[in-house]
Amino acid sequence: MQLHVADHPLIRHKVTVLRDKDTPSPTFRLLVDELVTLLAYEATREVRVEECEVETPLTTATGTKIADPPPIIVPILRAGLGMLDGMTRLLPSAEVGFLGLKRDEETLEAVTYANRLPEDLTGRQVFLIDPMLATGGSLVAAIEYALERGATDVTCVCLLAAPEGIQHVQDEIGERAEVSGGVAQVDEKLNEVGYIVPGLGDAGDRLYGVVDL
Ligand code: PRP
Ligand code: URA
Repeated sequence: MQLHVADHPLIRHKVTVLRDKDTPSPTFRLLVDELVTLLAYEATREVRVEECEVETPLTTATGTKIADPPPIIVPILRAGLGMLDGMTRLLPSAEVGFLGLKRDEETLEAVTYANRLPEDLTGRQVFLIDPMLATGGSLVAAIEYALERGATDVTCVCLLAAPEGIQHVQDEIGERAEVSGGVAQVDEKLNEVGYIVPGLGDAGDRLYGVVDL
């Protein structure tokens, strides 16, 4: 996986506020939205485009438009939903698929509880969005769903990643597909219960509150 780590003072500033345990949910949601817009700018650098003609008030000019078929954005529920608006703001013609994955907190394995992806993703650029890449189990599962539907070009956009998770994605996906990733920061490690350290805690809970299911 080709990984791009954002290096921008505004991104570092916003991530610092996200990490703060006293940042309330409304501010947290706003920051996630702002951060994804900044990250998506770089993550969409290779978005497929085609030439088009545009009539200006004076003449005809050659321009650029997003190619067909349009890209598909896939938020990994729940926490990935917090990144969806920021991503679609930048890619308004993209379609949206949904994957509901819940990490089993005992085994740390990703469990799928919802899958609304098109059956055929051949030729589609897929943007997977999830704030946290911890063990990498959820992201690997999501990439596998995209690959088994024919996608060959997958970009993952995350806010924080652990080195162990990045390695896991490399090991599992290898050269099977063109997978790239954009993250705001790579943290130090995972703790003994699979949380990113220093991290920001449970992203889903911080965005949407705690659910006991
Ligand atoms: C979080 C996060 C990722 C996953 C990362 O979701 O949003 O999807 O954990 O962990 P991993 O890399 O070890 O798989 P969680 O399963 O807690 O669900 P939620 O978004 O509903 O809170
Ligand atoms: N999921 C989260 O939300 N946070 C972590 O630190 C690890 C997994």
